[in-house]
Amino acid sequence: MGLKIVAGPSSQLLATRTASLLGVGVDLTDYKEFPDGEVYARVTGEIKGQDVVVIQSTPTADDYVYLLELIDACDEAKTLTVIIPYMGYARQDKRFHPGEPISARAIAKTIKADRVFTVNIHDPSVLPYFPCPATDLNASGVIGNYVVNMSLYEPVLLAPDDGALKIVKPAAEQYKLPYDYLEKTRISGDEVKIAPKNLDIKGRDVVLMDDIVSTGGTIAEAIKLLKAQGAREVHVACIHAVLVRNAVLRLNNGGMRSILSTDTLEKATSKVSVAPIIAEAVKR
Ligand code: R5P
Repeated sequence: MGLKIVAGPSSQLLATRTASLLGVGVDLTDYKEFPDGEVYARVTGEIKGQDVVVIQSTPTADDYVYLLELIDACDEAKTLTVIIPYMGYARQDKRFHPGEPISARAIAKTIKADRVFTVNIHDPSVLPYFPCPATDLNASGVIGNYVVNMSLYEPVLLAPDDGALKIVKPAAEQYKLPYDYLEKTRISGDEVKIAPKNLDIKGRDVVLMDDIVSTGGTIAEAIKLLKAQGAREVHVACIHAVLVRNAVLRLNNGGMRSILSTDTLEKATSKVSVAPIIAEAVKR
């Protein structure tokens, strides 16, 4: 009897990294898609009576179904821990307009496990919707650790808005980097000024940091603004590199110097891993 890591299709690398830190192997998981588009997952290792950890990000609806199937396949486990490194639909965490669902709640309440871990979920207000104890792990420190080792000139960590300070501040404080956020000030009825609230970034290297980069719109605008205000180089760092459509091109055309992300979504930009944080949480 022991610990079993089950790797979902969207988190294969992260699952193997986590397993290796925990000193266990990862059995093959079989996945396939039927001709009608339905998806299928099968766990090949022995699950019965084991402490099982399923790791699967859910950037797409199919990934969510894979996760539900893997949870169901593990119904004979002694204990089941579900790790959702990137939880899709988490941004619809409120009813913004009448008649809307709280999609994050709709998803969370279907996750039947003994405990759940997410990584920098868009808003922790979603956690109580899981039917079991759910904890959000903060990966901003692994980004801070990477940034502090980059060759940067008088670096500043910058959040594109005050909401992203929850990502930027812990990383900056842990590695003693100056930080700030972009603040929008209304000058007149038709004039707004967007600038770092406290710091002058002229001639300095800026690392713009957010939880999610999806279409790249938020960050591309921020990069243009910072370049216009005299930033030397603008680098982008995020926890979840969703990067849909032409996001990378938009960032590049905006003047981005480099981009890095974690492996909650396994992309070419994944230069740091959240495996140590997950392994530590599983051990606890
Ligand atoms: C918004 O609240 C998030 O923190 C991100 O800023 C946003 O999801 C990024 O989206 P996009 O890259 O499409 O602008």
